[in-house]
Amino acid sequence: MTTLGIGIVGCGVISDIYLKNAALFPQLEVRAVADQRLEAAREKGAAHGVPAMGTVALLNRDDIDIVLNLTVPAAHVEVGLAALAAGKHVYSEKPLAGSVAEARQLTDAAAARGLRLGCAPDTFLGGAHQTARALVDAGRIGRPTAGTATLMLAGHERWHPNPDFYYAGAGAGPLMDMGPYYVTAMVNLLGPVSRVTAMAARGRETRTIATGPRAGEEVPVEVPTHITGVMEFASGALVQIVTSFDVRAHRHMPLELYGTEGSLLIPDPNRFDGTVELFGSDWQAQETSHAHGDGNYRGLGLADMAAGIAEGRPHRASGALALHALDVMESLLASAESGTAVTLSTPGERPAPLAPGGHTGRIETMETA
Ligand SMILES: NC(=O)c1ccc[n+]([C@@H]2O[C@H](COP(=O)([O-])OP(=O)(O)OC[C@H]3O[C@@H](n4cnc5c(N)ncnc54)[C@H](O)[C@@H]3O)[C@@H](O)[C@H]2O)c1
Repeated sequence: MTTLGIGIVGCGVISDIYLKNAALFPQLEVRAVADQRLEAAREKGAAHGVPAMGTVALLNRDDIDIVLNLTVPAAHVEVGLAALAAGKHVYSEKPLAGSVAEARQLTDAAAARGLRLGCAPDTFLGGAHQTARALVDAGRIGRPTAGTATLMLAGHERWHPNPDFYYAGAGAGPLMDMGPYYVTAMVNLLGPVSRVTAMAARGRETRTIATGPRAGEEVPVEVPTHITGVMEFASGALVQIVTSFDVRAHRHMPLELYGTEGSLLIPDPNRFDGTVELFGSDWQAQETSHAHGDGNYRGLGLADMAAGIAEGRPHRASGALALHALDVMESLLASAESGTAVTLSTPGERPAPLAPGGHTGRIETMETA
């Protein structure tokens, strides 16, 4: 098995799980960490026994094959383009960029240089979602005709001490924040989306911070906080998608899929685990048929990209998939704004399934299984 050198740029909250999980994946070796706050890089480097440095120094290293971009969303494009210019493959946390136009700069630069671009989420590669995918591909619900994708919360100000960015600026709102998980999961199950329509509302003009030193302070709401729409897939399936920060409680499953012969209940697309339920003549919990369904395997998409580079095959959590998911979300918001249906500008692609069975750290493609 080929091991590729990983250089992490961005040593904040999410970097811990990637640094920890690298040990699970023999395809990956973290060889350097960087941050614009050098002390943050030094802290993570010391905790994980990896050299710490500034971004330029990391990009100049010959032993780094892939730059793992874990910076804040506003820096994803700048850092990603710099890494591609330095001849490195890039794997980014979500969102790929703040807009489709910006994301295209990354996909174009990677294509022009013959480098790989990958992007979270990679939860659709987890055991639960690959089990659902295998059931769909085996025809267990017949031809998929419809479904629902539901993310409804009361709002992050109830727990987050600085929730401002969820309510104003690029990437704000429930759709841009959580939509990548739900849209990517549905594209994995059904293939690309062709057209969308939506309506949107803002439940409140301000939000009151509930915890931390700013408790009681109000933050302005500048984006819609309840977006309800329909995604028309190229296959013809119609999926309702609702994302909201205006709902106190509900009883919908995160994802439901309906077909000519049955139905599927699919667990949280922000997780790798959970139980899939299939209705044929009654509801039955399904055994998880694929690896990586019993924990948090963030980094699985990066490991698949490293294996894809080594094996000369496409990787699954790709820039093209992330660009398509962003196009779906941007188009839903554009439809809500204009009051008309919006046809997507990206073709999208359904990632190849993983093979059943296998064990942690091994990427079982249909060819290698
Ligand atoms: N925290 C989570 O639970 C979580 C979950 C899913 C996805 N993500 C995604 O992961 C990414 C990072 O999130 P986080 O929570 O770790 O953020 P964070 O703010 O904790 O960390 C980001 C780090 O990037 C550094 N940084 C910012 N701009 C930089 C630049 N231009 N060059 C070098 N370093 C730079 C910052 O100094 C900071 O240390 C985001 O895209 C976020 O959407 C986070």
